[in-house]
Amino acid sequence: MLPMPDPRSIDLSRRTLLKIGGITLGGVTLPNLLAGCSIGSPSVEAQGSAGKMLESKTTLPKPFHTTLPIPPVLQPIRSDTTGDYYVITHKIGHAAILPGLLTEVWGYNGIFPGPTLHSRSGRRTIVLHRNELPVPTVVHLHGGRTPASSDGYPTDCIYPVDMSYLNSHMDMGSMDEKMPAGDTTEGSRTYTYPLEQRAATLWYHDHRMDFTGPSVWRGLAGFHIVHDDIEDALPLPQGDRDIPLMIVDRSFAADGSMHYPSLDPTLTNTPGPTKDYMSGVLGDCILVNGAPWPVLEVSDTKYRFRILNASNARRYRLRLDAGAHFIQIGTGQGFLPAPVKHDEIDIAQAERFDVILDFSAHDIGDQITMTNAYGNGGMAQVMRFAVTRHENDQSTVPGKLADLVPLSGAEVTVKREFTFERGGASAPGMTLWTVNGRPFTTGTIAARPKLGATEKWTIKALNVPHPFHIHLAPFQATGVDGNDQPGLYDVGWKDVINLDSGGRGELLIRFDGYRGKYVFHCHNLEHEDMMMMANFEVI
Ligand code: C2O
Ligand code: CU
Ligand code: CU
Repeated sequence: MLPMPDPRSIDLSRRTLLKIGGITLGGVTLPNLLAGCSIGSPSVEAQGSAGKMLESKTTLPKPFHTTLPIPPVLQPIRSDTTGDYYVITHKIGHAAILPGLLTEVWGYNGIFPGPTLHSRSGRRTIVLHRNELPVPTVVHLHGGRTPASSDGYPTDCIYPVDMSYLNSHMDMGSMDEKMPAGDTTEGSRTYTYPLEQRAATLWYHDHRMDFTGPSVWRGLAGFHIVHDDIEDALPLPQGDRDIPLMIVDRSFAADGSMHYPSLDPTLTNTPGPTKDYMSGVLGDCILVNGAPWPVLEVSDTKYRFRILNASNARRYRLRLDAGAHFIQIGTGQGFLPAPVKHDEIDIAQAERFDVILDFSAHDIGDQITMTNAYGNGGMAQVMRFAVTRHENDQSTVPGKLADLVPLSGAEVTVKREFTFERGGASAPGMTLWTVNGRPFTTGTIAARPKLGATEKWTIKALNVPHPFHIHLAPFQATGVDGNDQPGLYDVGWKDVINLDSGGRGELLIRFDGYRGKYVFHCHNLEHEDMMMMANFEVI
């Protein structure tokens, strides 16, 4: 029936799928344990996002009192002529985010965000990931042009070094498969990234089937930045004026931990959040690089910020006050042909915007606040820049950044259409998030593009907004919502595009790189965990 590359992975996925209930898999109708669930209604609090806000049970800090942390840069343990070797350990750590409390994070090297990796385009990066967390993990390099074996397929788990938690919480139910007894030796996995791709701001995050939402929420996310000669030749701000900004929303429990409304807080059996949050979990505290509403002291010069929205379900409309604006130089897949000025930036989940902020028109003592026009109250504030010193600035933003060869409709060999919507495969009394009416299974291939082919995919979004993401193969949008040109934020090579409810994206996708099985999915992580994902296989 199902292809089984790793029997234990499939066991795990089948076990968790069982709990979703009502789905017919391989001709067997499974028990409907979640009968009666419905999708929580999208809250009006966060326009542009599907989801419901979870209130923190602790006092949140005052905005603009914490200094922006910069995630540490990871050093290779060794390098040779073919590549650089790194080690990352997934483990529990404790972060001082809230006044007087320590927050438990599940982090890469125990920190949130994880350490930043810097790689050269075309030079191999080899990362040994070791899992000291209680549950399985899967590492995906988002935006990476990665062979399937290292892409972090949702069931390619790294089992914990210590299996005791898993063995005591995993419900074997009526399944006769068991975790192999006493197999505690795995614990790690090596991912090899050829990185034959443009300079770009990538990120790595957990991708375990059914449990990506809570795992990322607890901290499993970090930057991986790819550099190349084209970037080096540009006179852009660099060094300590090239700063990654990871924006997330979180909620905290009374003990300071990151509160997530899991149906199964052990994160081993039943996937998904409780029913009110099935459209998405929205936090009530904004963290940038792990700090609540932080401040960055800047000089009166230009800065390059690589802005990532690593939130589960929240989309932001970023603005700057005090007359400042964004100059976008790149997307998540590298440089635009020329800079684009924006007064505001809509950033959906998993999108990256590479921008220049020029503080040279400001006086020492000025403060510039980055706000979120989609939020109310605390959610309307993101972070602040305080101009505290004068510095000379050699950097400029050139009118031409990098060549961008447009994909042309003439190259298209195959057209496909995918609808992202609620339900479709619902059993009586319950609903899932689906792609073309089907919930995700490991064994069904929705598309088999040929290696090197350019295809046209039309993606339709129903019910609520869905940020569409595809692994391996970036795309160029040729039209959105019936217009025959891309939206304001959809220009250039992309790997995520937000589609509003009722929206539609026309994408040209070039399936270059590697053969093998990959996924595409909604990057609302609650939708993803609730099955809004599908496989494609490059043949
Ligand atoms: Cu950022 Cu499949 O994910
Ligand atoms: Cu991805
Ligand atoms: Cu979605």
